Formats: sequence, C-alpha cells, structure tokens
Amino acid sequence: MKVIVLFVFVLGALSAAGEDFFAKVGQKVTLNCGVSSYRRSLTWYHINDFLHSVDQSGFTLKGSVELVQRSVLRQTNLEISSVKETDAGQFTCFADGTRHNHSLVVLSVLASVKPSAVLELNNEARLRCEVKGQHQGCEVKWRSPNTYSLTNTSTVQLKPVKTSHNGAWECIITCGRNTFSEPLAITVQEPPTTTTPPTTLKNITSFVTSVQGTANDCPLGLSCSMWFAIGVCCQFGMLLIVCVTVLCKCMRRNTV
Ligand SMILES: *[C@@H]1O[C@H](CO)[C@@H](O)[C@H](O)[C@H]1NC(C)=O
Ligand SMILES: *[C@@H]1O[C@H](CO)[C@@H](O)[C@H](O)[C@H]1NC(C)=O
Ligand SMILES: *[C@@H]1O[C@H](CO)[C@@H](O)[C@H](O)[C@H]1NC(C)=O
Repeated sequence: MKVIVLFVFVLGALSAAGEDFFAKVGQKVTLNCGVSSYRRSLTWYHINDFLHSVDQSGFTLKGSVELVQRSVLRQTNLEISSVKETDAGQFTCFADGTRHNHSLVVLSVLASVKPSAVLELNNEARLRCEVKGQHQGCEVKWRSPNTYSLTNTSTVQLKPVKTSHNGAWECIITCGRNTFSEPLAITVQEPPTTTTPPTTLKNITSFVTSVQGTANDCPLGLSCSMWFAIGVCCQFGMLLIVCVTVLCKCMRRNTV
C-alpha cells in the first residue's frame, strides 16, 4: 500500500515538473499536457506564441504563427508534424488555468563519411555523426553493418577499411527513452589492380634516359655540340689544305 502511494506521489511530481520531449527534424512528435482531461478550457503556447485553445463546449481558437498549421490538438495533447529546428523550446499547456511547463528538443542529425561513401579496401576513412540541438544527456553511437557492434562515440575511424565495413551503418542517438537513428550506406571496393602497360612505359623511359645519359657523357667535359663544331672545323680546314695544294701544283705547272 505504501509503495502504491509513493508511486502515485512520484507520478504526480513528475507531471508537475514538466517533461522534456525530443524529436528529429522532419518527424512527428506528440507533447503530453500532463493531464488527461479538463473541465473548462485547455490552451497551448509555444514560448510566447498562442497556438490552440478549446473550451468545454468544443469551441476552438487558433493562433496565427506557422506552427499552428503543422499542429493539432488530440484530446489534451499537442501533435506536431514535420518538426522544424525553430520548434525547439518551451511549450506550455494550461488546463483549467493550471500551468504545465514542457520543453521540446529538436535534433538535426547529419551522418557522413570521409573521403567518400565509396571506400577502397585497406584505405582509411572516418565516419561522423553530428547532432545539432540541445542534446546534452543524449548518447551518440554507431552501429556497424555486419557485426552489429556498437561504438560509443560520434566518430569512427576505419583504419584500415575492411570488407566487413561494407553495408548499412546507423548512427543511433539515445535521449532518455527516445531513440533516433540516421542511416549511412557505405560501399567497400577492391583497389584497382595495376596492369602491364606501366612496366613497358617504364622501360621506354629508362631507355630514353640512358640515351640522354650517354649523349651528355662527352670527353674532356666539353659539350657534344662543341665536339661536333670542332669536327666540322677540322674537316673544313683539311678541305682548304687540299684545295690550296692542288691550286699550287696547277700554278707551278703553268709557270714551267
Ligand atoms: C513554468 O515556467 C515559468 C517561466 O518559465 C515559471 O515562472 C513557472 O514557475 C513554471 N511553472 C512550473 C509549474 O514549473
Ligand atoms: C559508453 O557510454 C557509457 C555511457 O555514456 C559509458 O558509461 C561507458 O563508459 C562508455 N563505454 C566506452 C567503452 O567508452
Ligand atoms: C623491362 O626491363 C626489365 C629489366 O630492366 C626486363 O626484365 C623486362 O623484361 C622489360 N620489360 C619489357 C616489357 O620490355
């Protein structure tokens, strides 16, 4: 009996303290007022913006802010669809004039992998799960595709990339009783195998460099073009000598 009384008391304290609700961007969330019924009227506010009210005769009033169009009253609860980051903050429900403070935490989750979603075997990669919004007290984990093991951190280093890393990863955010997940698909590929053309190319280049090496290797430290010029000069000189001797012989014959 004592236990039941205590339990009811704890429940009452919880509802009076208000509740923290969590939602991911784009999702639907239902905020509980904290009471199951009302007698005279029920009104919901977001921070200072009036959203909805209903009285005992069923007469309803709606506010003018954009959130009103995405929200609807379900009994005493407020259901919000296509949650936006701007929806975060305090929500207040007045049931017959009694105030119930609640808050909505909106998470936007970005799961990414660098350098790209297609990874090469034995390379390195880094997975990141970024959570925006007031998520203190939330846990961020990664679930890997084949082993279903969980890592405790928001970043995972794949070093090296293995075939078991191929598949559907999941970033899991746990905030109290709420769990959110963000999928990330990773493809692991074999690195492209090297073909024979590069070796023949290597042989050609080594041949070219060897030819250039010998060509530059002319004696006495003179450049090869210099040696070429000297050769031409010598030949020209010899031709000149031959011409002169022939000319001399002819002249001598004429004088005799
Ligand atoms: C609700 O919040 C308002 C302002 O934030 C505060 O003045 C009030 O005491 C709170 N009420 C309850 C029941 O916590
Ligand atoms: C995982 O997270 C829990 C809760 O935050 C923590 O107590 C635990 O030490 C962490 N484990 C590792 C291996 O980091
Ligand atoms: C390239 O050169 C190496 C030695 O330098 C030789 O063993 C090999 O057969 C050559 N490859 C081709 C395609 O000529």
